[in-house]
Amino acid sequence: MTSVHTPARLPALAERTGHLADSAIGAVLRLTGTSDVIPLAAGSPAPETFCSQEFTEVTTRLLKRDPAALQYGDASGLPALRSWIAAQVPTATGRSYEADRVLLTHGSQQALDLLCKALLDPGDVVVVDRPSYLGALQVFRLFQARVVDVPISSDHGLERLGEVLASEPRTKMIYVVPAFANPTGTSLTAPRRERLSELAERYECVLVEDDPYRELGYDPAALPRPAAPPSENTVRMGSFSKVLFPGARLGYVIAPPSLIDVLMKFKQAADLGNSHLLQQVVHDLVQDSTFLAAQLDRARGVYRERRDALVSALAGAFGSVLDFEVPCGGFFVWGRFPQGTDTARLLTAALKEGVSYVPGTDFYATDPDRATLRLSFSCARAEDMPEAVERLARAWHDSSEDRRE
Ligand SMILES: Cc1ncc(COP(=O)(O)O)c(C=O)c1O
Repeated sequence: MTSVHTPARLPALAERTGHLADSAIGAVLRLTGTSDVIPLAAGSPAPETFCSQEFTEVTTRLLKRDPAALQYGDASGLPALRSWIAAQVPTATGRSYEADRVLLTHGSQQALDLLCKALLDPGDVVVVDRPSYLGALQVFRLFQARVVDVPISSDHGLERLGEVLASEPRTKMIYVVPAFANPTGTSLTAPRRERLSELAERYECVLVEDDPYRELGYDPAALPRPAAPPSENTVRMGSFSKVLFPGARLGYVIAPPSLIDVLMKFKQAADLGNSHLLQQVVHDLVQDSTFLAAQLDRARGVYRERRDALVSALAGAFGSVLDFEVPCGGFFVWGRFPQGTDTARLLTAALKEGVSYVPGTDFYATDPDRATLRLSFSCARAEDMPEAVERLARAWHDSSEDRRE
């Protein structure tokens, strides 16, 4: 007998669902979905860097030692891991953070969501760098913020930011990725970060430093620098996704205790806290300083080799046709075709040739520069980079010929 399904009659969706964008991140991940496409699109970490053996050993040991490892945990996060983070994250003043300033979150992505819940009413202003991390733009839009983009890293960026802050009294946040940024690979200098922190204090908004790539510097000059002083207006976010593995979904936010308390209540309502087990595993892993140093070395070695292979192939194949700077860390090369190739169009030809990337358009809050693109070197093997770039160059030549016809 076949059952007959009547269509479900659901209530009308909440008004806020009208602000849900198509998942730009989902679209990026789909671009890397087939095995015959060399993936320069997704910014996922390399599975070769995941410490699965150590993970298995630590987990087994933990479970043997204490079955309560599988219990619920504290909604703010494992106290020992909060203390470890507070002690590790460097500050310019040499003072360390207190553990009550740290909240563990499901990746730094959740920290962004909680911050927006705590700070934004519809119509409030968030100032972002230009271009900016698309996962953050997606969250700001969902909370119906007015997103104003300013080229914060450029020569006149801080001047322009000052003008925006003076004319936009509803500004609640300034959002930056200070080290090896997604998507540009560039870093903010310490004086610029201090100036941003001062501006945030002066205009009574929050400077959000989203910093998941800080440990992934590949050149001696790119070793981690001290953070801005722990001013009450600076909120820092970090993540274990890039240095250990993103499957832990473990990130954190450091903020003044009064704000942490609000964020914790939203977190409790959302999920009652991160996995108690995974926090203990991560804590056991990272507190072993010999393991952590070796893990960082291994990850930096893999990404350095991939970056070098990508940039030398790009320079050889494109010459002056593509402008880009060699990033000192992180996962990304940001490029621009000075003659104005539309990279969203080029993508169709590139995928046909068997290589993916992300058109730059997705990273702009307003007025996108269509000639830009983000090439990620984190997921493709170094030995595949020359072939990936050859495919991209073929796609570019074919589409240039199409334009001439
Ligand atoms: C700048 C930035 N922030 C946040 C995230 C989210 O990381 P996670 O939630 O895994 O910590 C990413 C991931 O790519 C990122 O590039």
